[in-house]
Amino acid sequence: MTDGARVWGRELLTLALKFGAAAFAGIWNFSVRICGVSFKQNKTFFIETFGCQMNFHDSEKVAGTLVSQGYRQVQSAEEADLIFYNTCSIRDKAEQKVFHRLADFKRLQKQGKKFAVIGCVAQQEGERIFERAPHVSLVAGSASYRSLPEMLVQIERGERVTGLNDRNTSETFETEFTARTNPYRGYITIIEGCDKFCAYCVVPYTRGRERSRTSESVLEEARRIADSGLTEIQLLGQNVNSYCDPLGKRSFAELLSEVGQLPGIRRVRFTTSHPRHFTRDIVEAIDSVQTLCDHVHLPVQSGSSQVLSAMAREYTREQYLERVSWIRAARHKQISMTTDIIVGFPGETVADFEQTLSLLDEVQFDGTFSFKYSPRPNTPAIDMENAIPEEEKTRRLAILNDRQREIQRSNYAKHLGQILEVMVEGIQPARDQVVGRTTQNKTLNFTIPSGMAAPGVGGYAQVRVVRSYPNSLVGEMVRATETSRR
Ligand code: SAH
Ligand code: SF4
Ligand code: F3S
Repeated sequence: MTDGARVWGRELLTLALKFGAAAFAGIWNFSVRICGVSFKQNKTFFIETFGCQMNFHDSEKVAGTLVSQGYRQVQSAEEADLIFYNTCSIRDKAEQKVFHRLADFKRLQKQGKKFAVIGCVAQQEGERIFERAPHVSLVAGSASYRSLPEMLVQIERGERVTGLNDRNTSETFETEFTARTNPYRGYITIIEGCDKFCAYCVVPYTRGRERSRTSESVLEEARRIADSGLTEIQLLGQNVNSYCDPLGKRSFAELLSEVGQLPGIRRVRFTTSHPRHFTRDIVEAIDSVQTLCDHVHLPVQSGSSQVLSAMAREYTREQYLERVSWIRAARHKQISMTTDIIVGFPGETVADFEQTLSLLDEVQFDGTFSFKYSPRPNTPAIDMENAIPEEEKTRRLAILNDRQREIQRSNYAKHLGQILEVMVEGIQPARDQVVGRTTQNKTLNFTIPSGMAAPGVGGYAQVRVVRSYPNSLVGEMVRATETSRR
């Protein structure tokens, strides 16, 4: 396909996604191929997604690929011919939930519908899914989505398909047919998989080995996003800062800076960073490129070096705090920090747990995502001694959350009276509020004084903070900052 044809194909696809392929079916009531995009009007799919942002973005790519193969996306399983279930297995009894959901779906099989289980539970459970849910046609992990077009042909032929053996691939899932469902933010996966093998975590087993995209291809996708009118980009990876350009042209910090300097881009975020690979040049980039948001999510997991070592995290409490000191030393921006914490990892003593509490006091995070340790299949921690009883994990989690709530109460209160720029993410009609987000990734909901027009989703506004809570701010719009280009 020539470049011109590709752009054409993409534009038709964008239109199809915006107005629904049905509109096209009305024009062409037979299957046509235009510039490599095939529109057959009568095949529909529904996709339900669980898990992290990478999984949600994978669903955008899967949906885009399906549309490019002639399928039309619908909003319920009832309306669909093909039902995709994109799964997560990070915690709890994820696989049981999947099997329950598949049992619910079984009644739809009589209507000739087909089922596909993809994502991390698919990779983890593999062909066991066919045994327990024989009505499933496709079981595939994320490393095999590149082969989706061929797999779709096989499913249509009535075959049972697996995509489970690709975890050692060096290829990434690149598609220009991404169905961008987020109205204000464009996601770009820059690195897939994870090689870290933290003792508690399923991700390296479900998403396979680390593989980075070339920085050229990332920048090309970022330009396409900017051209489509989105002004915010989020770079994604389970371990985003161990990004390693296969052509050696740019470091992670350099790539971040270049994305931030693309015309039309106003905000750049990235997640999730691993402390081991968190280098000073990332802070320097954030501090010097205006569009790079003043927020770093840096999961610590525990404040005890002993527990960190048992978790195989590859850093100590002191090394983590050193990174915090780099972030705090930024000269132009006050960079907000958030983290993830696991309580009750096997062998975690009360003294270890207290070190986590003292780390919270020391760092003063603006947000924490804290979880009770959940034993996962295939991971080394499942066989570790000194498991912590469930009630004790629950007790520790409550103490941790209480302590953190007070820290956030005072952190958020520091914004009172400030005027902050927000991007509009939605409207809350019940409260008569517009939902906004600050560059520090804080929710700032606001009202519009009479006589002022509310900016649309994706637009920007200056907002004065009038109230603060531990997890959000409330304000009043001062003025709209130039409307979004969408
Ligand atoms: N790649 C990121 C995290 C990915 S998973 C990192 O390395 O930090 C998101 C979070 O889920 C983790 O940070 C961890 O806090 C939590 N998590 C992962 N496995 C878990 C488990 N078995 N039990 C409880 N929490 C877990
Ligand atoms: Fe899991 Fe550790 Fe990889 Fe994060 S770095 S995805 S916690 S193995
Ligand atoms: Fe879940 Fe897989 Fe993401 S386990 S958190 S969907 S990488």
